[in-house]
Amino acid sequence: MCGIISYCGNRQAIPILIDGLKRLEYRGYDSAGLSTVDKNKMVTIKTVGKVSQLENKTAGTRINSSFGIAHTRWATHGKPSETNAHPQTDCHNKISIVHNGIIENYLELKEELQNKGHQFKSQTDTEVIAHLIEDNYENDLEVAIIKSVERLVGTFGIAVIHTDYKHQIFIVKRGSPIIIGIGDNEFFAASDSNALAPYTHKMVYLSDDEIAVLNSNRFYIKNMKNEILEKKIEILDEDEYKMDKKGYEHYMLKEIFEQPESIKNAFRGRIILNEGVSKLGGLEPVLGRLKNIKKLIIVSCGTSYHAGLLGRYIFETLTELDIEIELASEFRYRRLKLNEDVAVLAISQSGETADTLAAIKEAKRKGALLLGIVNAVGTSIAQITDAGVYNHAGPEIGVASTKIYTSQLVIITLIALFIGRYQTVSFIEGSELLTALKKLPDQIKDILKNAKQIEKIALRYAHFKNFLYIGRLYNYPTAMEGALKLKEISYAHAEGYPAGEMKHGPISLIDENFPTIAIVPKDSTYDKMINNIQEIRARSGRILSITNDGEDKIKNISDDLILVPQTLSILQPILNIIPLQLFAYYIAKEKGCDVDKPRNLAKSVTVE
Ligand code: F6R
Repeated sequence: MCGIISYCGNRQAIPILIDGLKRLEYRGYDSAGLSTVDKNKMVTIKTVGKVSQLENKTAGTRINSSFGIAHTRWATHGKPSETNAHPQTDCHNKISIVHNGIIENYLELKEELQNKGHQFKSQTDTEVIAHLIEDNYENDLEVAIIKSVERLVGTFGIAVIHTDYKHQIFIVKRGSPIIIGIGDNEFFAASDSNALAPYTHKMVYLSDDEIAVLNSNRFYIKNMKNEILEKKIEILDEDEYKMDKKGYEHYMLKEIFEQPESIKNAFRGRIILNEGVSKLGGLEPVLGRLKNIKKLIIVSCGTSYHAGLLGRYIFETLTELDIEIELASEFRYRRLKLNEDVAVLAISQSGETADTLAAIKEAKRKGALLLGIVNAVGTSIAQITDAGVYNHAGPEIGVASTKIYTSQLVIITLIALFIGRYQTVSFIEGSELLTALKKLPDQIKDILKNAKQIEKIALRYAHFKNFLYIGRLYNYPTAMEGALKLKEISYAHAEGYPAGEMKHGPISLIDENFPTIAIVPKDSTYDKMINNIQEIRARSGRILSITNDGEDKIKNISDDLILVPQTLSILQPILNIIPLQLFAYYIAKEKGCDVDKPRNLAKSVTVE
């Protein structure tokens, strides 16, 4: 989703801004732009399409400036166009602004400002902020910005420059992430630490309603009451944001192949085998409260929601808690009884998903204990939750989540065991689970060795336009996630269904052009899955089975078969999803799709 980068220092700003934008490209965007001040004039350059096009446009300009702001836009208000791209400027081209988030009351403000004579150029909500600051400006830009943001309803991370304030950038945050990067006599601001990786590892995370003012040799942060704040400087680990395809054709493929390692990172140092228990330092501070909760509600979106769906079964298996799972975007509409007996667990790889953030803010208001499983360190969800566990899976650049999904499943299992061992789970059960968990990285390596064979099978399916994915119990979420992977990157229509539900509707879709991917582990669901496959075959449907059973019973009724190693039923989805990720990848690649940056999607969804 939209990305911001700003620079203020002694070097030429444009190459740094362009480089930063390129590092934000993975988030998904449709247009890009930048502003700087050269010879007392605001210079703004924008383009629809790739950052490389913006780079070409800046190439011949000979701009000489060592500060500026830049942006990649993912359209919300107004279609992708140069006019709607950021930065947006005021009437006199003195103020320029980039913005992430959504201004909900922009129409009302726009009308008010138009009545005062302001001329608007774009259809964006962002432009209203530039005009509002212009309107509030008397002789102090900081004051004008604070006055203006007081009028804004919605979420924003903004960076502002003014032709009369050379070498100064003003940053404000409410709801959308902004990080300040600290270099040697140079300062940065970005919506994502990845953009700053080559320049500095020293970061300060702004909280809501804070304003940062960057100069080439100093910076300060204030709250809206004009009080200077002492903020902690975080040093980010280099591994947290290494961006490199390491010879793989796409980030997604690299990330699929990184799963043996990302899974190890999820449980490294978190297992006490001889006590059959997990050790989660991030949850220790709330242990007293955690032991007393009666109910757990999981909130998340997309792939993280699928991890939560499986989480419901995992928590039900390992704990005595009442479990609910809710899409974060729906959570706020419900009249849930939340109190100190309830914990709400947010699952989010980016830590910035606006829906998830809104859901947990609601839960906080109602007194629930907030827990988080987050990959991106220091992000909003990590900050807001009372306690949590980081994935430590490293950056995931491919928009379609792969390695973080499996990492989330490992961490959910560890949290459930952590709670379950204070309840009824025995030492033996705990040790068996952890022993099986430790074997997963090698078992995944075995699946990945068959990537070529999976590719061959995938190519036989690449021409189909519709797919059904079915599974039961622990593998119902696997079916949902497998279908999501395929649809988001290959644009084929794919539906994930609990297999038992098939006969209540989707079976009417089945014919020889509508293949089914059946997830058939050798567990309590096996016989019922075989029946479902028979029902599909009776309607000429083609079947690809993902199974750990190489026997004739399943072979004879499947057109294609992918074998995965066997583990405990509760962990089997972590293995079963791997061939489905590869299947989606190879089909998307065969169709010539932009695998890492699927159309219309964004990596970090910062609007509700
Ligand atoms: C799909 C995918 C998305 C995200 C969803 C939530 O592959 O990645 O569905 O899972 O947008 O994002 P996070 O996990 O960052 O909250």
